[in-house]
Amino acid sequence: MPANDLNLLQAQAELKIAAADSDTLEELRVSLLGKNGAITAELKTLGAMDPDARKARGAELNVLKTVITQALAERRAVLDAAALESRLAAERIDVTAPVRPEIAGAIHPISRTTEEIAAIFSAMGFAIKDGPDIENDWNNFSALNIAAHHPARAMMDTFYLQGGEVLRTHTSPVQIRTMLEWARSQTAQATAQPIRIIVPGRTFRADHDATHSPMFHQTEGLVIGRGITLGHLKGCLIDFLRAFFDNPALPVRFRASYFPFTEPSMEVDIGWNRKTGEIGAGSDWLEILGSGMVHPNVLANCGIDPREFQGFAFGVGIERITMLKHGIADLRLFYESDVRWLRHYGFASLSPAMLHEGF
Ligand code: DAH
Repeated sequence: MPANDLNLLQAQAELKIAAADSDTLEELRVSLLGKNGAITAELKTLGAMDPDARKARGAELNVLKTVITQALAERRAVLDAAALESRLAAERIDVTAPVRPEIAGAIHPISRTTEEIAAIFSAMGFAIKDGPDIENDWNNFSALNIAAHHPARAMMDTFYLQGGEVLRTHTSPVQIRTMLEWARSQTAQATAQPIRIIVPGRTFRADHDATHSPMFHQTEGLVIGRGITLGHLKGCLIDFLRAFFDNPALPVRFRASYFPFTEPSMEVDIGWNRKTGEIGAGSDWLEILGSGMVHPNVLANCGIDPREFQGFAFGVGIERITMLKHGIADLRLFYESDVRWLRHYGFASLSPAMLHEGF
């Protein structure tokens, strides 16, 4: 092919490349530069030429090959950019479109109760803490004044892990973690910034029926400071229960009880009507949570001098108060992930639990 035919080949190729779509561009590349391509065929003729002619022709062909390779790459880039643009346009999500109710999720009642508890106690100046699901024996039992052969350990149907750790049977070990941390920071003790925390979280016991699940949720509460009394405990818990059950006149009763980690210990009951299930009405009492003044041994175990600092603690089962508040009969429904159930018992995600609105 004479030299000016290479110009023709280049001109024609450039026209076709400029007009190619994604598929025809690949076909063009093969027909020009592929094993049997036009330019490849020209390159193959070099071997039969005498050295001078080969040198001149080779240089021209190399230029042509470079120009075509570049034209193909540029066209490919243009096509790819256009393809991306059209995908972006086609897959655009209109975030301002109204929610389609049939696909909208809902806040699970357990999460909602946790948020409500957090809202109530944050208004009282409590911070929210958490701790690990896997605990050591000391945090979960011993430091809480539950001795090695104490019946409370058996009461709790503990899941033991290889290595002696446990799945925490209650949120109370976070009391220990918090007090240890507090006692270690000398400034906290010196300035006596009180501890005021709630600890919502998962807990585990080998137990399974309509009212017990091997995994369930509790919220712990802990207040430590100078001169904390049973009066503070009662005030906080009465306010909490009245806000949570949305009833400013809810009857609340404190009944002497026993927990190893508190002294004195109290079970807290609310008034209800056993027959109708109505909370705050009738003359029956329903046990809601455990509480008490932190046992001096527990304070001492955490390096806190019980003669100087006192406090109260409580523990409440989240499933239980959620079932009571919303009339949910079977605890297992919480964990079945049935969207029909969630649609009925769940909460709109755009109306968060805010105390000033009431729940
Ligand atoms: N840890 C107890 C339980 O799981 C609940 C509890 C009772 C926690 C009294 C407390 C408390 O902090 O003071 O059964």
